[in-house]
Amino acid sequence: MLGSAAGGGFPQWNCGCTNCSGLRAGTVRARARTQESVAVSGDGEYWFLLNASPEIRAQIESFAPLWPRAKRHSPVSGVLLTNGDLDHVLGLLSLRESHPIQVWSTAAVRGGFAEGNPLYATLERFPAQVRWHALELGREIALCSGLFATALAIPGKLPLHLERTHAASPEDNVGLRIRDARTGGVLAYLPAVAGPSSAVEAAVAGADCTCFDGTFWSSDELVAAGLGTRRAEDMAHWPVGGATGSLEFLAKLPGRRILIHVNNTNPLLREDGAELAAARAAGVEVAHDGLELAL
Ligand code: MLT
Ligand code: MN
Ligand code: ZN
Repeated sequence: MLGSAAGGGFPQWNCGCTNCSGLRAGTVRARARTQESVAVSGDGEYWFLLNASPEIRAQIESFAPLWPRAKRHSPVSGVLLTNGDLDHVLGLLSLRESHPIQVWSTAAVRGGFAEGNPLYATLERFPAQVRWHALELGREIALCSGLFATALAIPGKLPLHLERTHAASPEDNVGLRIRDARTGGVLAYLPAVAGPSSAVEAAVAGADCTCFDGTFWSSDELVAAGLGTRRAEDMAHWPVGGATGSLEFLAKLPGRRILIHVNNTNPLLREDGAELAAARAAGVEVAHDGLELAL
């Protein structure tokens, strides 16, 4: 796990909430976190990034298996995108050092990023600098080195910057099932989930590990902290806590369950907090940068 925080990271540059200011002052027991991104590999040679965070450069440097093994080389074989939010795609523009890259996304996410975006020209400096592969909903595709990926439509929403110009589509937000053909291990990766649905249940069914939207503990987290007017549901994030929260759903799943894309306001970040204790009692973990798992 290269990064485990929601957009903005923890602490967030312009945030003086209890968590962010407490982390800076050393008065809150918590770890700093960069914005959500995970590296997966079937063999330790070829790696795929799940989402390209704005902190991609530092994240690649934080994990030696992602370092070049020749004068011009990268073990990063490709990037899979779960949606087109800036905290998931901005990192692509940082991979611009004349290096061919491969990206897997739905057609809607590709269009939202690449069409009408003058900055995208930096990734079109030579033919096939970016090779896009379409993620079709429900169709498993081979990555390489024994890894396979399936994208499933998950309740979500358009990225903020496309809301005024684009019509919503089921392709706007997907969950990924990454399958290792050699071990049979399955990772379900759903960093943005607007709420419960049968598609969410299908996406996590039987997974050895489920990484799940841990953005907010409660619906009114930003409102109650005086940081905004939008509720978790307005931002298409299913809160973890409370009577209708995702914790109840996750508690019943087999395999490891790990909350990711955790917003800096989330009380789950406090290592001595009641919320983290409740999650642990339900068998649910909170991701942190540097967490490694083998499936
Ligand atoms: C989200 O996760 O809801 C988005 O990243 C929010 C945003 O784009 O600011
Ligand atoms: Mn986000
Ligand atoms: Zn904050």
